[in-house]
Amino acid sequence: MSNISSREIRLISRPNGIPTAANFSLAQVELEPLPDRQVLVRNLFMSVDPYMRGRMNEGKSYVPPFALGKPLEGGAVGEVVESRAKEFKPGDAVVSNFGWREYFIAAPDQLHSVSREVQPLSVYLGALGMTGMTAWVGLNLVEVKAGDVIYISGAAGAVGNVAGQLAKLRGCRVIGSAGSMEKVEFLREECGFDIAFDYKVGPVVEQLKVEAPEGIDVYFDNVGGEMLEAALAALRAHGRIIACGGISGYNDEKPRPGPSNLFNMTAKRLTMKGFIVRDWLDRQGEFEKEVGGYFRAGKVKHKETVVDGIGQAVGAFIGLFKGKNIGKMVVKLA
Ligand SMILES: NC(=O)c1ccc[n+]([C@@H]2O[C@H](COP(=O)([O-])OP(=O)(O)OC[C@H]3O[C@@H](n4cnc5c(N)ncnc54)[C@H](OP(=O)(O)O)[C@@H]3O)[C@@H](O)[C@H]2O)c1
Repeated sequence: MSNISSREIRLISRPNGIPTAANFSLAQVELEPLPDRQVLVRNLFMSVDPYMRGRMNEGKSYVPPFALGKPLEGGAVGEVVESRAKEFKPGDAVVSNFGWREYFIAAPDQLHSVSREVQPLSVYLGALGMTGMTAWVGLNLVEVKAGDVIYISGAAGAVGNVAGQLAKLRGCRVIGSAGSMEKVEFLREECGFDIAFDYKVGPVVEQLKVEAPEGIDVYFDNVGGEMLEAALAALRAHGRIIACGGISGYNDEKPRPGPSNLFNMTAKRLTMKGFIVRDWLDRQGEFEKEVGGYFRAGKVKHKETVVDGIGQAVGAFIGLFKGKNIGKMVVKLA
């Protein structure tokens, strides 16, 4: 097959603060004829994720920065169109890190095979993909167990809602916060949270005092800032913090001071553990078996916000920082 033209999103300047459309361009490229031992894939869905904001900055982090003038990268699920490698055949569904483009050519070891029986395939970007695995790893990291009272910030997002559902399955009392009443209802009605509140209505520290007067055992931090400070106040002695993310600071132009009440770590003998999900890839099979099983049994739901077309991908990404998504934000490409 030849003459495939594909559109892709490139980073053309580094954002200051919240990214704008002017930081990106939409380019069209012609793909080369498929080389031997390579696979041509058409993306069906691509993921937009908060961590990508960090890669838009210059400077060292746990992943290298995105290069200017080059297509962005990120999770995507697609189908094989043509294969010159024995591992794949046309029609196979694959997950890759070649998001932000419509088509791509890759080597077999850059593709992860997934079952087409599970639908929609975008679930492999959400509950059964990177964000679902992040939720699962976070709970395992501090051994969340039956009877724990766990508070999850950013609870209606991709990681948060799955963390809450999995914590319920473990027998926890689950409290979540999110940025609108619609999200609060989603957490209560669809995800089975015991308590959910809108963090924009009043100070989180006060809301936690009302909703968890006896305190909490575990805090799953997706947000940092005010939420972390409130959780430090609410945690009981020997409480645990899962340091998953800090989206409230991702667009800050200069670092903000840490929590004013950090001494709670000492006084209450708290533990705070950070992690990066990709360090846990050797346990991906275990995650897929456990959470895939829950999903097939209807015990874990996949919720997503779908935006249509590569031309809307930048808007979907920026929307993450404005709370536009419930569940996983994905872009439908085909
Ligand atoms: N450690 C890891 O390996 C790992 C892997 C994946 C993700 N993460 C982290 O996990 C967190 C959640 O990621 P996700 O993919 O599930 O994203 P997400 O929660 O689906 O999307 C972002 C959400 O964050 C909330 N938000 C945005 N700006 C905020 C602010 N200033 N203050 C409070 N909330 C804000 C918004 O919801 P509201 O309407 O509720 O404000 C928004 O919908 C992020 O911090 C991410 O970086 C970590």
